[in-house]
Amino acid sequence: MKVTIVGAGAVGASCAEYIAIQNFASEVVIVDIKENFAEGKAMDLMQTSSLLKFDTKIIGSTNDYAKTAGSDVAVITSGIPRKPGMTREELIGINAGIVKSVSENLVKHSPNVIIIVVSNPMDTMTYLAHKVTGLSKNRIIGMGGALDSARFKFRLAEAVECPQSDVNCMVIGGHSDTGMLPLTRLATRNSVNVSQFLSEERLEEVAKATMVGGATLTSMLGTSAWYAPGAAVSVMVHAIATDAKKMFPCSAFLDGEYGLSDISIGVPCIIGKEGLEKIVEIELSEAERNKLSESAAAVSKTNTLLEV
Ligand code: 2OP
Repeated sequence: MKVTIVGAGAVGASCAEYIAIQNFASEVVIVDIKENFAEGKAMDLMQTSSLLKFDTKIIGSTNDYAKTAGSDVAVITSGIPRKPGMTREELIGINAGIVKSVSENLVKHSPNVIIIVVSNPMDTMTYLAHKVTGLSKNRIIGMGGALDSARFKFRLAEAVECPQSDVNCMVIGGHSDTGMLPLTRLATRNSVNVSQFLSEERLEEVAKATMVGGATLTSMLGTSAWYAPGAAVSVMVHAIATDAKKMFPCSAFLDGEYGLSDISIGVPCIIGKEGLEKIVEIELSEAERNKLSESAAAVSKTNTLLEV
């Protein structure tokens, strides 16, 4: 499998690293607009190959999309990250233009590519990539839910005082501080509902900490996080490479599912060799349905700022 990663910043480099060390891709191409930057990251990573024992070939390219030709999967991480105090939505002005031209360049050289969008505001950038590429909706996937669910698992395990491998839970809705919907009602510890271990108030605290997970790290790091976003992307790419049919919440283009249309937002999806192969419609409570509608209304409002 050939994977392109656009953007050689911290998130893009983490994606490349985690994909390479899992040793399932034959080639990873990193693209960046900054002269020699992607080439440098690629060379540094390639010098870990004998140490970490992977054979994936990593190459860098300064904005030359010819090198990305024939990619099976492309990950868009380019654009600016948020600074402390900023919302993801505030990035739209700069990032929309970048994501648009990157998406166009990618499909020009890889007409059958599956695109994973990471750039923020992620749901709106996923919608934009869908509109500008004309790729079928299974080939455009937004990365948010896999990351937010990992953050939910971290917070939940911390509260229950158990290993993360004991807990299972997911986040749907928009990838934003106020739009995420951690599904606390369905969260379990080894199949036992977590309400057996945590009070309603504690569970509510876990949900709130999950929703601002990205903002918390941005205030600590001075820029947005990269390890967990990179790892979440690598797990999604691995599911495509191995045709795993794994279920992740992803930002999917909806066409009536969950009563929503003409929007990309986080819902449970099956990921396999065709990309986003199926949207899973789970039964939500009335309160959850209302929260999802509110989240969708906010994403749609951000989408109106796009010129597509
Ligand atoms: C985050 O939540 C980058 O949006 C991403 O860290």
